[in-house]
Amino acid sequence: MLEVKNLAKAYNGRQILKDISFSLKDGDILTIVGPSGAGKTTLLRIIAGLEEKDSGQILIDGQAYDSGKVGVVFQDYNLFPNLSVLENITLAPRLVLKKTLNEANEEAMSLLKKLQMDGHEKQYPFQLSGGQKQRVAIARALAMKPKILCYDEPTSALDPALRQEVEKMIVSLKETGLTQLIITHDLAFAEHVADQMLKVKPLVEG
Ligand SMILES: Nc1ncnc2c1ncn2[C@@H]1O[C@H](COP(=O)(O)OP(=O)(O)O)[C@@H](O)[C@H]1O
Ligand SMILES: [Mg+2]
Repeated sequence: MLEVKNLAKAYNGRQILKDISFSLKDGDILTIVGPSGAGKTTLLRIIAGLEEKDSGQILIDGQAYDSGKVGVVFQDYNLFPNLSVLENITLAPRLVLKKTLNEANEEAMSLLKKLQMDGHEKQYPFQLSGGQKQRVAIARALAMKPKILCYDEPTSALDPALRQEVEKMIVSLKETGLTQLIITHDLAFAEHVADQMLKVKPLVEG
């Protein structure tokens, strides 16, 4: 269970997020919609522990928040350009989870297989299509065994056929009990996959 209560954030005295509250059961999907500049990415970054909140609470299973349980797939994927697909996925499990090389490689290969990316492990990000990079970014996030996975506009750079693939992948991850938060502009997609929808509105000063 993920609970967010009365979250607020300002940048340089300008309020970006205010009174953001929701709660999600394990395996639920929350889609986050709203116009550009509304604070969607900021909200995701706070939940992922990449940005400080000003006030409010984030609880996972009723406990004080642990950002190690939250993975993120960034809009531009943020793969390490100088590392192979396999190395991109195994780096954090080796450094942070102290996995051995063999263990990390085995788990990475099984994730790549699950995401239909086996055979690409020796390639570098520049050799992959957008959809393939996204799968690697998802595999890299899943390798850290998150309880919650956040995506920033996962369908925005993809053509319609690939959007369907992403949708299928998200639904199959839901079946494993993963809780997912998805920022999207794609309302049809949002309505298909969502258990809950959060509308983030730009705050007017004054
Ligand atoms: N690190 C930052 N410092 C200052 N302002 C920021 C920072 N990050 C985002 N903002 C501002 O916060 C607002 C919300 O940004 P963002 O969360 O990226 O919106 P969205 O993802 O909904 O388009 C924007 O006005 C943006 O310029
Ligand atoms: Mg954004």
